[in-house]
Order: sequence, then C-alpha cells, then structure tokens
Amino acid sequence: MGLRVTEAKGLLGWIDQRLPIIDAYNKHLAQYWTPKNFNVFYFFGSLALLVLVNQILTGIWLTMSYEPSAEGAFASVEYIMRDVEMGWVIRYMHSTGASAFFIVVYLHMLRGIMYGSYQKPRELIWIFGMTIYLVLMAEAFMGYLLPWGQMSYWGAQVIVSLFSAIPLIGEDLAQWVRGDYLISGITLNRFFALHVIALPLVIVGLVVLHILALHEVGSNNPDGIEIKDTKDANGKPLDGIAFHPYYTVKDIVGVAVFLFVFCVVLFFFPEMGGYFIEHANFEPANALKTPEHIAPVWYFTPFYAMLRAITFPMFGLDAKFWGVVVMGAAIAILFVLPWLDRSPVRSMRYKGNLSKIMLALFCLAFVTLGVLGSLPSTPIRTAVAQAGTLIYFLFFFAMPWYSRWESTKAVPERVTK
Ligand code: HEM
Repeated sequence: MGLRVTEAKGLLGWIDQRLPIIDAYNKHLAQYWTPKNFNVFYFFGSLALLVLVNQILTGIWLTMSYEPSAEGAFASVEYIMRDVEMGWVIRYMHSTGASAFFIVVYLHMLRGIMYGSYQKPRELIWIFGMTIYLVLMAEAFMGYLLPWGQMSYWGAQVIVSLFSAIPLIGEDLAQWVRGDYLISGITLNRFFALHVIALPLVIVGLVVLHILALHEVGSNNPDGIEIKDTKDANGKPLDGIAFHPYYTVKDIVGVAVFLFVFCVVLFFFPEMGGYFIEHANFEPANALKTPEHIAPVWYFTPFYAMLRAITFPMFGLDAKFWGVVVMGAAIAILFVLPWLDRSPVRSMRYKGNLSKIMLALFCLAFVTLGVLGSLPSTPIRTAVAQAGTLIYFLFFFAMPWYSRWESTKAVPERVTK
C-alpha cells in the first residue's frame, strides 16, 4: 500500500504547515500508482536523472579549475588531469557521463517508441522529452569545444559553418553564433557560458516539467494498458503499486548495474578507443592545421551521416543546404511522432508485423548511419548512408498508413507479467 504519511511532527511538521512537502511526497512517491509490470527498459528514466546529477556535480568541480580562454583552456584541462587531486576522475566522470547520457537517453526513447508511450494522453511528456534531447545535443556540442583540442576546434568549425548553408542570412548567422570570422576565444567564452549555466538550467527545468506531465497522466507500461481503467473500491488501480518503496528499491538494482559498467569504462577505457574522447583531441587546437578526418562524437554521427548522404543540389540550392535540411528534419519529425502513429494499440507487443519490421529496420538504419558517420566517406558508404536515410524517414512517413491498416492483436484487460 506504499508508505503514505498523514502528518508530521517537529521540524517536518513546522515546514509542512508552510510548504506542502507531505502532500508532494504522497502524490509523487508513496501514492503514485505505477504499473506493476515494468521491465528493464523502465530503468533508463531514473538512470538519466542519475547521469544528469553526475554531469552537474562533476561540471561544477571542473569549472573550479578550468580556464575558458583560447590561451589557457587546453593547458587547464591538462592541469586538471595531472595536478588537481582526483581531477582526472572528475574529468573522466564528466566525459564518460556525456556518452552515458546519450546511451541512456537513446534507450529511454526506444522504450517510448516500443511501448507507444508518446500516444494520447502522453504527447506532452514526449514533447518535453524531445526538447530535452535537442537541448542536450546543444549542451554536448558546446561542451566538446571547451577542452580546445583539435577535434573540439574543427568539429565546431564544421558544425557552425552549417549555418552558412542557409540562403541569404547564413553567413551572417554563422558569424553571429561564433562571434568571430572563425571559431575563436570569443566563441569559446560564449559556449562556456551556455554550457555551464544557461543550458543546464533549461535542461533541469524541462526535466521537472517532463516528470510533472508524467505524474499528471500516469506511467505507461510494456502492455500499453491504462491501469487507471481498473480500480479497487478505494480508487487504487488494481495493477498499480506504490512508486515508493517498490520502484525506488527496484531502481537501485538498475543504478548498481549501471554504476558497475560506468566504473569499468571510467577506470579502464575512458576514451573508449576514440569514441568517447577522440584521439585528435589530445592535441591543442590549431587553426592552421586541419585534421585529416573530422567526425563528431558517436552520438551525433547518425545525423552527420545523413548530412553527408545528400550529395546533389536540388532546386538551385546546393547539397550542403539540403543536407542541413535533412538533418534538421530527422530530428524535427520525432517531435510529431505522437500524431503519426494511428494504431489502435500502444505497445509493440500487440501491434502487427509491419510495425515490428519497420521498427527493426529503423533501428538498423540508425545504427548503420551512426557507424558510417564516424568513418571517412567513400562512394559505397555514401550509397549505404543514402539508403539508411531513406529507411529512417520511411519509418515515420509511412507510419500513418501501416500503423492504421495492419491487423493488431487483442490487448488483454489487465497487465501481463
Ligand atoms: C535528461 C533526460 C531525461 C530524463 C532525466 C528523463 C526522465 C524520465 C523519468 C524519470 C521518467 C519516468 C521513469 C520511466 O518511465 O523511465 C520518464 C518517462 C518518460 N520519458 Fe523521459 N527523461 C529524459 C529524456 C527523455 C527523452 C529524450 C524522451 C523522448 C524524446 C523521453 C520520453 C519519455 C516518455 C515518453 C516517458 C513516459 C514513459 C512511460 O510512461 O512509458 N524522455 N522520463
């Protein structure tokens, strides 16, 4: 029945008369009825919270010794790594945390897609989630410039120059973003300000809204059934259990496994063979020496591959412009997913074979694009990336059709084990 609290005495009581902490505790923990059939995919929301806290705390400590200037940035990171006590652990917790964030968020999104968690009435949870994802990408991109290594510099150069592909205003826009004609100390300063304060504030605010929206309508589950439809005489859903203590305890298992894997990476493979911190980033930024192969960090590579897949001009506008459009559309289309899915059922468990095949192809295309985006392009790789881009978009554009017309399985009344 949960650990509901009705009244508090002493200091807690004093506070509660002035701030409804007991009500909030009951509403969001002890009497937040959660479907009893959550599986491992439901660990990733709490893990995303954990990584967010890790990023904020390690970020604060890094900022204590980091110097945001073109002259001092690289050396200050080396200083953190070599001279600051435990500085290397803090830095690697932050850099590994960035990749962990994306792994966790991608799996969290996949769960949402598999179980139709974005469908009515949870559209707003999804929209807040997508906005978090967008801001998280900006946060990671700006953070990567801060060590002022070769890949920081040239990666930023390539990505910011994409703005210049926009007709008429592009060049001015790119210059406005950089604050200079090239990536420079001025760019570093503004990215620093946005990375350490502005965007984290936005992310934390969005996460609060994300969870408030979730608690308003209640969690979905692997069966995609509305547990509120079958309640006992007291109004408690028959298939619901109290979030606290049942899922707080269960989530600790996820946290333990996650921390184990995280520590293995942190202590044994912090650069992850160049995937988490690229090799070229151990060289200081040099505006006169372009690295042979520029690739973004792994979590951006699927979109980078789509950008490079567009090799032909159309309607009088060059390939780079269309590449940027396709890349932007690949993210934008995820926002409208709740309105593309016309299936009468939520969960992939009860959808038809076509939905399952399309999701499998979509995942395969996304991973393939990710691999291709990290490699130098060749004609064959470009052709594969073009096919991957087509499949990526087909998943979304054909969804209103296949999700509606395929035959679905009968959904049980109550959640299954
Ligand atoms: C900082 C990043 C994020 C944090 C901290 C976060 C946190 C959470 C938490 C704690 C939950 C409840 C537990 C769970 O269902 O796993 C949740 C649910 C959910 N999140 Fe996120 N989230 C983040 C990003 C995202 C993103 C990027 C999306 C999708 C675009 C998303 C979509 C959802 C959906 C649809 C649910 C409801 C799932 C259900 O009820 O089945 N979230 N999130």
